[in-house]
Amino acid sequence: MTTNEKQQALDQVAQEVKEFKGLDIAKTATNAVPGEGNPNADIIMVGEAPGRNEDLTGRPFVGQAGKLLEKTLQEALDLTRNRVFITNIVKYRPPENRDPFPDEIEACRQWLDQQIEIISPKIIVTLGRYSMAKFIPGVSISGVHGQARFVDFKGKKYIIFPMYHPAAALRAGSMMTQFVADFGRLKNLLGGKPPEVVPEKPKEPEQSSLF
Ligand code: URA
Repeated sequence: MTTNEKQQALDQVAQEVKEFKGLDIAKTATNAVPGEGNPNADIIMVGEAPGRNEDLTGRPFVGQAGKLLEKTLQEALDLTRNRVFITNIVKYRPPENRDPFPDEIEACRQWLDQQIEIISPKIIVTLGRYSMAKFIPGVSISGVHGQARFVDFKGKKYIIFPMYHPAAALRAGSMMTQFVADFGRLKNLLGGKPPEVVPEKPKEPEQSSLF
C-alpha cells in the first residue's frame, strides 16, 4: 500500500469508530478516540482506553500519562509522537476510567486489528496489561515487561514489546525506573539488536494488579 492508501484506510477505520453506537460507552463518550499517527510507523503503541482528556479531545494519550509517554519517546528514542502510531484497545472512555469490560474489548478488536494490518509495523509496544494480554495471554506484566518476543498475528510475525502503562509509572517510582529502562531496551531493538531471550514457560496469569 502507498502512504496515501494507508492513510485513507486508517481514516476509514476512524470513521467507523466514530459512527459506531453498539456499546454504551460509545453512546456516552464525548468523542471516540480511534488513534493517530504515522501510517508508515515502525512502532504502534497500544494503551488501554481513553481517559478524560482523550474523551474531550478525541486524541489518544494527551493527559499526564501521554505527556510522560511523549517525553520518554523523545528522550530515549529521539522520536516525536507523530513518528509512531498511538492507539488503544478500547476506543471510547469507560465511565470513571473503570477497567474495560470484555465485550468492550471484543467490540473494538476489529479496529485495532485493522490498524495493525494497515500500518504493518515492526514493533507493537503494549502499554499495560490489557493490550499485553491481546498478544501474550496468560503472563504477568511484572515478569515479561521489557522483553521482546515474536508473535504470529493474522499470518504475520510481529515483535511484541510489553511495557508498563505510563500511568502506572507515574504512580510508583520503581515502575518509573522500569518504564524508562524498558525504553532503553526498545532503543536497542530499533537499532537492530536481536530480541532478548524470553522465558520458556509463561508465568501464572496476574490476578490483582491493574497494569
Ligand atoms: N490511558 C490509556 O490507556 N490510553 C489513553 O489514550 C490515555 C490514557
